[in-house]
Amino acid sequence: MNEDQIVVVCPDSQNPKHDPVAMKAIVDFIADIEPTGVIHIGDALDFEGPARWTKDTRKEYAGNVEQEAEDFTAEFIAPVREVHDGFFGIHEGNHDLRPRQYLEKYAPALADSKFFHIENLCRFDDYGVQRLPDFYEVFPNVVTTHGHLGRIRLAQVAGMTALNAAKRFTKSVVMGHTHRAAAIPHTLGIGEPQTIWGIEVGHIMDESCADYLKGTPGDWQKAFGVLQYSKSGHFKPEVVYLNQANEFEFGGYRYSPGAAA
Ligand SMILES: [Fe+2]
Ligand SMILES: [Fe+2]
Repeated sequence: MNEDQIVVVCPDSQNPKHDPVAMKAIVDFIADIEPTGVIHIGDALDFEGPARWTKDTRKEYAGNVEQEAEDFTAEFIAPVREVHDGFFGIHEGNHDLRPRQYLEKYAPALADSKFFHIENLCRFDDYGVQRLPDFYEVFPNVVTTHGHLGRIRLAQVAGMTALNAAKRFTKSVVMGHTHRAAAIPHTLGIGEPQTIWGIEVGHIMDESCADYLKGTPGDWQKAFGVLQYSKSGHFKPEVVYLNQANEFEFGGYRYSPGAAA
C-alpha cells in the first residue's frame, strides 16, 4: 500500500425492494469523492421467487430472476462503472445465492450450470466486477464479508455482531446482513496496542417492501460505509447515516439527492 485508499461500501440493497433514491445517492457520492474502490457487501438482490418461504406460492412462479438481476445491473453496476474505473467487488449474500440454491435443491441435474450464480446473472465480467471471496482482506487486517457465513452469531445491538466476529478473527470485520449500522472499536492491549473494528453498514431497502417486518419499523438503519486506509497503515472506518430524505453528511459536506455537493 503506497498511498491513501478509500473504499465505499454499499450495504444490503435487496433489489427490487431497494430505495432507488438512496441507491442513486450512493452512486452520486462515489462519483463525487472518487474512491479507490467500491464494494457491495451482498444481498444486492432479494430474489423472492426462489426463496424457501415462497415455495408453492404464486411468487415461486413469477419467473422474475433474470429480469431482477438485469435491473440491478442497470441501476447499480453500470452507473458505478460509468463514474468509477478502479477496483469494484461484490460479495454474494444469502439472498443472492437463492437462485443457485434453488437449482441445487429442485433441479440437481442442472446444478452444474453456473448461469444462476450472481456473478453471471449480473454479468460481472462485462463490467470488470470481481465476485469477492466470502472473506475478503480489503486492507491488512480488515476483512469484508456479507455476514451469513463463518458462524458469526447475530447480536441485537448495531455493530455488536461485527465486533464479536472481529474479536474472534482478531481483525476488523466489515459486514452487512444485519441491516443495522454502527462501527465499534475494540483495542487489544497486549504488547503494541492494536484497535480492531466491528462495522455494520446498514441497508438501503424500501422498508415498506420488507414483508417480514410486518409493517413495524425494524431496528435497522439506512447507511453505507466509507473505509479509509492511510499510507502509515492507519485504518479509519466511517458509517454514513442517511436521513428520511436520503440526505447525509461526509467530510463536512451535506449531500442531498439530486443536488451537487
Ligand atoms: Fe440482507
Ligand atoms: Fe443477508
